[in-house]
This record gives sequence, C-alpha cells and structure tokens, in this order.
Amino acid sequence: MNMTRIAHQEAQLLPDAPASSNVRPNGATGASSANLPVVRAEALTKRVATAEHELTIVNNVHFTVQAGEAVAVVGASGSGKSTLLGLLAGLDTPTSGRVLIQGTDLNSLDEDGRAALRGRLVGFVFQSFQLLPSLTARENVMLPLELAGMDQARERAEAILTRVGLGERMGHYPRQLSGGEQQRVAIARAFVTEPKLLFADEPTGNLDARTGQSMIELLFELNRERGTTLILVTHDVQLANLCGRRLTIAAGEIVESADAPGGQGAA
Ligand SMILES: Nc1ncnc2c1ncn2[C@@H]1O[C@H](COP(=O)(O)OP(=O)(O)O)[C@@H](O)[C@H]1O
Ligand SMILES: [Mg+2]
Repeated sequence: MNMTRIAHQEAQLLPDAPASSNVRPNGATGASSANLPVVRAEALTKRVATAEHELTIVNNVHFTVQAGEAVAVVGASGSGKSTLLGLLAGLDTPTSGRVLIQGTDLNSLDEDGRAALRGRLVGFVFQSFQLLPSLTARENVMLPLELAGMDQARERAEAILTRVGLGERMGHYPRQLSGGEQQRVAIARAFVTEPKLLFADEPTGNLDARTGQSMIELLFELNRERGTTLILVTHDVQLANLCGRRLTIAAGEIVESADAPGGQGAA
C-alpha cells in the first residue's frame, strides 16, 4: 500500500498533520525560543452563534505554561475544556484574544501555517480519537511520521503500538478495535513524533484501571525523559494529582489555578 499517496489524500482529515515535510523530528526550534513559555493564552474567548443567542464557550482565559510543565484542566462536562484545548493547539480559532506557542502568535498564521507548527511541535489526543477509518492501526500511527518525512516510520509505529499493548492489533482497522484500543492507537499516534507539547483530551476516559495506569506512566515518562509539556483534560483524580498544576474551568472561565506540590513538571 502506498502510504505517501494515502497520506496526501487523507492528510486533511487529520487535524494535527503537518503541512510541510521539511520539519525537524522532535520540534527543536533553536536557542531563540528556549526561554519562551511553551503556551501563552491572552484574553482567549470563543463565542458561537446559536439559533436564539450567542453562546460564550471560552471566556477571557489567561494563562502561561512553561516548558516541561504538566497541567491538568478539570471541570464539569460542558464547561469548555475541549474547546479550550482545540484553541490552544490551533485546531480552532478564537473569537478574540490570542494563543502564543513558543512565542508565535497563532493568529498570525493561516491554516497551513498552524498545521506546520503543530506538525513540528504538537501532539494531540482527541476525546473522540479521530482515527482514519480506512487505515490500519499501524498506518494511522505511521501517518504523522510519513507526513513529516521522518524515516523508519513502520518501525517507530510498531514500537509505540507495542508499548501501548497493541502489538497483536497493528493490522486491524479502527472498526475492528474496541473504544479503549482505539484510544490507545490515538495516544500512540500523538506520541510517535515525540512532540514537545502534548495535548490529551480525557486520555484515560475509555480505559480500564490497569490500562489507564500504563497510559499515565507513558505520559509522565515522556514528561520526565524528554521534557515534554503536558496539557491534559481529565476527570481522573489520580491523573490530575500527578500534574504540577491544576486549572479548574467553569462556564468557560478559569475559576481556580492551583499548584500541586506533589505533582510532576512543576514550573
Ligand atoms: N460549535 C459549537 N456550537 C455550539 N455550541 C458548542 C460548540 N462547540 C461546543 N459547544 C458547547 O460549548 C460547551 C462547551 O463544550 P466543550 O468544550 O466540548 O466542553 P467540555 O469538553 O468541557 O465537556 C458545551 O455546552 C457545548 O455544547
Ligand atoms: Mg470535552
């Protein structure tokens, strides 16, 4: 199967696919960006028009995340967590305010520019997985590597799929996998390029306790060993407690920002 052809056909379906193949594998961006916050949100606001009125989903959010931090975003269902994550990753555009990723204002980039920046720096685990149905688990995980022109895509994809416990499922299509297995493929796909910044939207939401535990270990291994910045939406108290900081969001606003002394990746 010609992966390059598939990659080009289906690249647009993969929101975090890099648009350029001329990117460095692990998002090294040079000395000039070393001391900049990885993520900075300024007066970030997202409104949508509904039939009756305008709804404010994310309301005037400010915060800064330094390299190597692990931040948990918690809050009730419908409070705006997924929308906030999409804005921070440049998958969605704000109504007002801005997001800077390592000093780059996402508002200054067009869609292709944002995709190229994501391809270089960002991994994203979607709440709804967003696997490509016509590709096997292996091909789904290979795709971001193929798009970035990274070598040994097959070997790397197989290694990470084995690491998430799917060594026997690599040739299966998403429809042949359980929800929890699909979630692990989505995690593998987000990890495989070794991004500097990893967003994960309820990454343990579909997993049993033991599998969830091993995915949490994988996330924090990346945080410790490679300094990967983690921004995680979660309802999992144990996972939130492992993070160095917890942002609580209610009705689109950050209502509390608390350091967790026992957590990892403290600023
Ligand atoms: N495109 C949209 N149009 C209208 N309402 C939306 C849209 N996207 C999200 N919402 C609403 O915004 C609120 C926040 O959604 P979401 O960010 O998914 O919350 P959470 O991830 O915290 O459960 C919800 O009430 C949701 O229904
Ligand atoms: Mg959500």
